[in-house]
Amino acid sequence: MISNPVNLSPGALQERSRRSKFMRLDNCRIIDLPKINDPRGNLTFIESGRHAPFEIKRVYYLYDVPGGAERGGHAHKVLHEFIIAMSGSFDVILNDGKEQRRFHLNRSYFGLYVCPMIWRELDNFSSGSVCMVLASSIYDEADYYRNYDEFVQSHNL
Ligand code: TYD
Repeated sequence: MISNPVNLSPGALQERSRRSKFMRLDNCRIIDLPKINDPRGNLTFIESGRHAPFEIKRVYYLYDVPGGAERGGHAHKVLHEFIIAMSGSFDVILNDGKEQRRFHLNRSYFGLYVCPMIWRELDNFSSGSVCMVLASSIYDEADYYRNYDEFVQSHNL
């Protein structure tokens, strides 16, 4: 039962219930990717909508990250992402405004699915690491929360 402290309309309440169900930390998880072992070198593949649980519209990657650097420090309103350590390792800290969890990524056959409305920070990059991110939409600055307090407020609406 969801409380209604600000007298939200039934539609707004329903939307809040939907958001709170699908935009929680519990929905973010490590997904095992297929691995074709081969003495010539292993192979992993990712199919849009199958291994990454959304349609992939964009790929970007972080590389040449200097020691001690931190990335992220934002949340997305509707964007789904899938984060893979293509090389080396790093940590992803996820926070839904209530709970926080740290994931250590160090294998190119594991991906971390991050649903919308999750604050993320990345740190502890090993030397030479490459962080590849598959995203459900093209880049849109309007989809970002870059202020943590604003993000938490919005999550609790
Ligand atoms: P940002 O998402 O803040 O990086 P991170 O979360 O890795 O720290 O993006 C850094 C800059 O790059 C910012 O100016 C926006 C730009 N950018 C794009 O132009 N396209 C993209 O797909 C991404 C992810 C970022």
